[in-house]
Amino acid sequence: CQRPREDVNGVSAVSQTPVRVALLGAGTVGAAVARRLADRAEVFARRVGAPLELTGIAVRDLGRPRDLTGVLPGLLTDDPGALVDEVDIVVEVMGGIQPARGLIERALRAGADVVTANKQLLAQHGVELEALAGREGHGLEYEAAVVAAVPIMRTVRDALAGDEIRSIRGIVNGSTNYILDMVARQGVPFQDAVTQAGDLGYLEADPTEDLEGLDAAAKIVLLARAAWGGEVGMSDVQREGISGLTDADFENARGTGQVIKLIASAWRSGAPGAPRIEVAVRPTLVAADHPFAQTREGTNMVIIEADSAGSLRLSGAGAGGDETASAVLGDLINLARARVAAR
Ligand code: HSE
Repeated sequence: CQRPREDVNGVSAVSQTPVRVALLGAGTVGAAVARRLADRAEVFARRVGAPLELTGIAVRDLGRPRDLTGVLPGLLTDDPGALVDEVDIVVEVMGGIQPARGLIERALRAGADVVTANKQLLAQHGVELEALAGREGHGLEYEAAVVAAVPIMRTVRDALAGDEIRSIRGIVNGSTNYILDMVARQGVPFQDAVTQAGDLGYLEADPTEDLEGLDAAAKIVLLARAAWGGEVGMSDVQREGISGLTDADFENARGTGQVIKLIASAWRSGAPGAPRIEVAVRPTLVAADHPFAQTREGTNMVIIEADSAGSLRLSGAGAGGDETASAVLGDLINLARARVAAR
């Protein structure tokens, strides 16, 4: 058991025992995580107090081309199960429900902490996964699952833990915001804007995730749980996507000086002492001078109202390889620090 040593300046020297990390998935986000772990190895080692050692990258298709510049060769494997049993921290960025869920459970039971960006898995099974992590005494972190680079989970769950959040409202889906922005500001016909978003690769593999509001619903469910605890689930979301909108709807909005935005909301209602949590995703008319109306293209924005803090606004990139990797790596480094501190 080695502890980080204090040097003369009070800065922790790097302990030699590495924190072992397994990466599940090497798509756009996974490859970005692997590249950063390679090219920022020294910086991360200083921040953690020990090197982060990537022991393997599990992928479905070994032959698929991917950019792993700077990453040690020979790390790719198509056997994720063997990887998760042997490490301190598992990073799951493969997406989908299975095998991701089984691998996360196996990792937690085998003694690892877990970082995941898997919003649908968390929205559907996160309560059970958090309970398992709690029972096993390991961390389960997922900042990247909600609005990627924007540190919204930490803000809601940790920074505002001493306040009372009243509501969270936001544009949390970048591809539908791109579509709505193209129609509102460039006058692109609605269906052409949908096609354009698909051609640019902005839509999920199953476009209904974005267009029917399922992606936004998963994110607002995770935010509601972080704000108020409890077991808010996907079936609690009053959900309407953008697929039913017509060009006439956009004309009408324009005529009244408003724009249509897909707004995800969570708020407290009911009597004091017996609060109810409501969650909704729906196309909403927004005044042209509202910050949501100014949220352009793929940008996301969330506004939190809290009793003491008042109104807080966070915005930024809600998708993208490097942007999502930023949040994944933040969780990874924090979990690794805690591991090193506990040695
Ligand atoms: N489909 C999502 C979006 C990707 O458009 O925001 C990031 O979660």
